[in-house]
Amino acid sequence: MPTNREVYFQLLKENNKYLNKSVIISLLADASGFDDRMMLYSNFDREVKDTEHLFACVEQVRKGIPYQYVLGYSYFLGNKINVDKNVLIPRQETEQLTVDVLVYLKKAFTKDEVPVIADVCTGSGAIACALENEISTAKLYATDISQEALIVVKSNLKRTELLQGNLVDPLIEKGVKLDVLVCNPPYIEDETRIDEQVYKYEPHLALLAKPGTRCYEEIFKKAHLLMNEHYLMAFEIEDNMEKPLIKLMNKYLDGCTYRFHKDIYDKIRFLYIIK
Ligand SMILES: C[S@@+](CC[C@H](N)C(=O)[O-])C[C@H]1O[C@@H](n2cnc3c(N)ncnc32)[C@H](O)[C@@H]1O
Repeated sequence: MPTNREVYFQLLKENNKYLNKSVIISLLADASGFDDRMMLYSNFDREVKDTEHLFACVEQVRKGIPYQYVLGYSYFLGNKINVDKNVLIPRQETEQLTVDVLVYLKKAFTKDEVPVIADVCTGSGAIACALENEISTAKLYATDISQEALIVVKSNLKRTELLQGNLVDPLIEKGVKLDVLVCNPPYIEDETRIDEQVYKYEPHLALLAKPGTRCYEEIFKKAHLLMNEHYLMAFEIEDNMEKPLIKLMNKYLDGCTYRFHKDIYDKIRFLYIIK
């Protein structure tokens, strides 16, 4: 049986664009049953535990299938999140959005208070999962229009109430009043901007919207039916949306302040609306 080190360098030599260092490490860690990459590094000269499984996964990744779909999971802020082709693979930018929401929640609420929070367009449930783990007192809701996505969400969440339907509609129908809404909706209008692998394998329902501001507009329009007097609404956005979103906020939202934040690639990526 080959060692992890031998397989690592053998795969790297292939120069396959989908088999980069980080992906190979993830595949090797999985084949040895390690959740933590550090465990792989300290066992790098040991034999690969399950070569048959490893090479079956490598074969799919070689063809371009995202390795997270091949393995059936991804990591989001340290949480292991089940994923399949019906949900978007959680992104690093969304981790930044979630951390900003957590910082707000920890400042705005004491440990005894019960903030009411919704993750709208929850997908895999990655954001709600982080909120579950970090804000133990919170009452949490997660919504998505996709029945298939909600099956995946169920496997990732323990105490969040799941609602199927269009954007915030199921929350309004239930009479929920929110302190915090966090949402990473589909927002890409021009599909030619989407990376080839993403376009081929990730769900278009999670990516595309026409116009790109469609989901934000609908949420702003209905915010008065849903949000408490004081609130935070936190959104992931595309970098060309600043002007149209300001227009929509001026049209639909009264008495709030807003801030656009950049991601680590220096692109405007987040919108925080506070009242
Ligand atoms: C960009 S993904 C975000 C997934 C997850 N929140 C994340 O950040 O990784 C958008 C999600 O919105 C859902 N979606 C699309 N249109 C919707 C709608 N009209 N109402 C509710 N959910 C919708 C998709 O099914 C998808 O799961």
